[in-house]
Amino acid sequence: MIIASAPAKIILFGEHFVIYNQPAILASINKRIKIVSRIALENKNTIRIETNDFGKKTYPLSILKNTDHNSNNDFFYPIIYILKRIVQNTEKINGIDIKIESEIPYGVGLGSSAALSVAAVASIYGLYNRDSKKNEILDLAIETEKLIHRNSSGADCVISTYGGLMYYQKKLNFRPLKYSKKLNFIIINTGVKHSTGELVSVVERFRQNNFTTFLKLSNKVTNICNNAIEALEEGNIIKLGKLMNENQILLDQIGVSNKEINKIIDMSLNYGAVGSKLTGAGGGGCILSLINQEKKEYFLTNMRRNGYECFAITIENQGVKVKI
Ligand code: MEV
Repeated sequence: MIIASAPAKIILFGEHFVIYNQPAILASINKRIKIVSRIALENKNTIRIETNDFGKKTYPLSILKNTDHNSNNDFFYPIIYILKRIVQNTEKINGIDIKIESEIPYGVGLGSSAALSVAAVASIYGLYNRDSKKNEILDLAIETEKLIHRNSSGADCVISTYGGLMYYQKKLNFRPLKYSKKLNFIIINTGVKHSTGELVSVVERFRQNNFTTFLKLSNKVTNICNNAIEALEEGNIIKLGKLMNENQILLDQIGVSNKEINKIIDMSLNYGAVGSKLTGAGGGGCILSLINQEKKEYFLTNMRRNGYECFAITIENQGVKVKI
């Protein structure tokens, strides 16, 4: 039996622009997805996938040889794809049982699909005795993530694999960042699920129609990220919050924010957040607010009183973990 887990993520700065080679700052958080895989003792001819929140499904083992399996409406397709890729040269395959336990809200910008891909690759590699180095896990996880959203920058899979607080630029240029003060982040879930792929297309259309503006906004993102690195090192929470607000304005300009998000952000700032922005693809999803410790309880109580699901998070230093 192999147990692997991988963390969810937040993007502090630079989502969407990261696809166009601008930098981004992201962190893994203390919510994980755990995948337990084992060779089946019974049901030797099936793949059984069971989840804590999406029910269960059984596939015949022959699906691993099936090249026209319709992936579009199948939530579990990434798992089947990973299995296909890992066992493709294995002669005799037995049934497989896979159990998914997730603490990550799905489809709201916290990197649930990347974490699922990373944990599943790590667990299934382990099951077939593959020595899984982090870079190999990452490569197959990104390949899998691209089934869900084709233009992925890879950012979500990288942070879920390596963990911590990170500076990221596409083409796998990433490095850990230092921060000198505890960062109190609150996530507010709009409850509106989004399709990352569709929002990425919204931005691409904006870019094509507003090429010069997009270039200017991209330069602003780069400056924001550079200033944020300084603010993190200095432990300057106020400066960091201000930069988050500036980043939000840019996200609004490229069309991935909306009325509901803007309303929650205004409310956050009224209840004492020093900075607030959408995190991830937008169009719904989650809002990330930075708050001083002494305002935390007041903030949570009031947001909840207004009917919003919100929770405090901490930065998680460990990325993917594997246990035999
Ligand atoms: C999604 O979490 C982040 C986006 O920038 C997409 C990507 O980087 O692939 C919107």
